[in-house]
Amino acid sequence: MKMNHGFSWQYDEFKQVGTDYGSKAEVEIYDSSHADFRDMEAESIRILDSLEIKRSNVLIDFGSGTGTFAIQAARRCARVYAVDVSRAMIDRAEAKAIKAGTSNIEFHHAGFLTYEHNDSPVDAVVTTFAFHHLPDFWKGIALKRVNSMLKPGGQLYIHDVILEETNAVENIAALIDKLATAGGKLLREDTERHFRDEYSTYDWVMDGLLSRSGFTIKSKHIEGGVLGTYICTKN
Ligand SMILES: C[S@@+](CC[C@H](N)C(=O)[O-])C[C@H]1O[C@@H](n2cnc3c(N)ncnc32)[C@H](O)[C@@H]1O
Repeated sequence: MKMNHGFSWQYDEFKQVGTDYGSKAEVEIYDSSHADFRDMEAESIRILDSLEIKRSNVLIDFGSGTGTFAIQAARRCARVYAVDVSRAMIDRAEAKAIKAGTSNIEFHHAGFLTYEHNDSPVDAVVTTFAFHHLPDFWKGIALKRVNSMLKPGGQLYIHDVILEETNAVENIAALIDKLATAGGKLLREDTERHFRDEYSTYDWVMDGLLSRSGFTIKSKHIEGGVLGTYICTKN
């Protein structure tokens, strides 16, 4: 699905909302600050295992950030398209990929709404902690675009802050406290900014958006009522 229709009201996904991942300073501290609450390499391997990625597979990683997942994926499959709206993130990820000795990652400075996949449909699309950058209407547009980039039966893996409605406020407060304990003032501010300025949504909204965009939800888990993981297949 082409998105550059020339609409004057096209959402500008390159505009940073919330945390400024376009800032070099923010990108430089990204891996070390996230290491306070997640092991990104182990997480990447778990994602690849859960999707049963094979050597011949081709993947797209949307919101590829500093490239940790793309590099792990590139070691396991034929090709990875790493897509991000932040030039600073792409530069960091490219440098990491060169250092890791990977040559099968194609980087694209684009996003969910603007990336044009001018190649064969892919086996899987993965996105972690990036989808919440789009407001809900644009999430729907993005999912239809993602669907069109997948082979029939292709897989979509989404991991992000996604909220169960029951006890949402209490669960958000618990997450903010947990992350502040792990990563101090910086992580508390980052998490509070997430809920204040960014676009995390309810799981029932995600369920509807996914099924209306041509996906079947194969598994869904919402940890602590706030951290959602979906594995879906293209119908
Ligand atoms: C919190 S980081 C997540 C990075 C990485 N996936 C991870 O799990 O650590 C969010 C990333 O999404 C990117 N991003 C924001 N909006 C986007 C969009 N519309 N399309 C693609 N990437 C986007 C940001 O530039 C940033 O690199």
